[in-house]
Amino acid sequence: MSKIKWSVIGAGGIADRRTIPAILANAQSELCAVMDRVPEVAKTVGEKYGVPFFTTEEEMFKNTDCDAVYIGTPVMCHYEQAMLALKYGKHVFLEKPITLTSAQGKELVDAFKAAGKQITIGYMMKHHNLHEKAQALVADGQIGQVVDVRAQFSCWYPDIEGAWRQKKALGGGGAFMDLGVHCIELIEFVLGEEITEVKALCSTLTFSYEVEDSAVMIFRTKSGTLGHIDVNFNVPDKAAQSKLELYGTKGYIQTVGTLSQTETGTLTHLYAPQGDYVAQQNNRDAAEPVIYEAEGANLYEKQINHFCDILNSGKPNYFYTDRAVHVQVLVDELYAQN
Ligand SMILES: NC(=O)c1ccc[n+]([C@@H]2O[C@H](COP(=O)([O-])OP(=O)(O)OC[C@H]3O[C@@H](n4cnc5c(N)ncnc54)[C@H](O)[C@@H]3O)[C@@H](O)[C@H]2O)c1
Repeated sequence: MSKIKWSVIGAGGIADRRTIPAILANAQSELCAVMDRVPEVAKTVGEKYGVPFFTTEEEMFKNTDCDAVYIGTPVMCHYEQAMLALKYGKHVFLEKPITLTSAQGKELVDAFKAAGKQITIGYMMKHHNLHEKAQALVADGQIGQVVDVRAQFSCWYPDIEGAWRQKKALGGGGAFMDLGVHCIELIEFVLGEEITEVKALCSTLTFSYEVEDSAVMIFRTKSGTLGHIDVNFNVPDKAAQSKLELYGTKGYIQTVGTLSQTETGTLTHLYAPQGDYVAQQNNRDAAEPVIYEAEGANLYEKQINHFCDILNSGKPNYFYTDRAVHVQVLVDELYAQN
């Protein structure tokens, strides 16, 4: 089987830190070119990996032959760059969130579907072994009917001169657009159903940028499960919990430290069906939770491997791509309420 030839648009940032190493680690892939709007970045990253480098997309597409493009640029670039890659007949691995709005995202995905080209969005957290474990436990009824879900995700992101994430027109929003989108994608993955209704509040409490540094979303899923998502740009990294909690009629699942770029953290599962009603409520200490550990694999390698498997199967698969558009529908609703 011939290797999948990759080019990269937006070569600094997450591309250099995580995705290019993951492409290089994939035995079915090879890197053939990089492009970045900033000439020094294009040159540094191109030389680092020993591939031709460019400062415009057209120049790269005209001078190199690749099958797939990884796009790791700021959100406001996603739609146009992915459409351009499609015009040149490429498959696309696009960073999250898909686009500035759900309408743009839908248009993009429809265009790829019509052309029979693959497009995948970089939500890597569903590949974490503990999130896969949570999904399997829920599907197997190991916490019964899920009645309450909570996700908490934060980082420290102060005012930074020129930062695209701090401008609505460039990033599409703040803490929710950056962190909350991961939480929605993950919760729908673990539950195996859609969130259908949201109510949300956003604040810019701590910093002076125009997008929110704090957001809370409460939601209801299709089957009626309730939950909430808290995201913050103003909690110190050392105080960040990055956790997912699911409570059900037969127990709970709690992960701590798993909403992350690395496969870290723990999952605690308690299976403790109630039995009889106990008015004294003195039956709470008997249950023994089971603790699962993260396996420490590379989430970016897992998502690249998953994408390459789809390409090699010859059958485009838009299941998670459609989920990524749905995430944006809920995000649009959140910002419409604020
Ligand atoms: N899945 C994850 O773990 C993860 C983590 C970080 C970022 N991201 C996503 O990746 C994307 C990029 O984020 P980042 O943190 O790497 O940003 P960044 O600003 O650190 O890096 C973006 C790179 O794109 C380049 N660039 C900017 N405009 C360009 C253009 N028009 N054409 C070509 N290159 C351009 C910049 O010079 C820079 O090298 C965003 O969508 C972000 O949400 C995902």
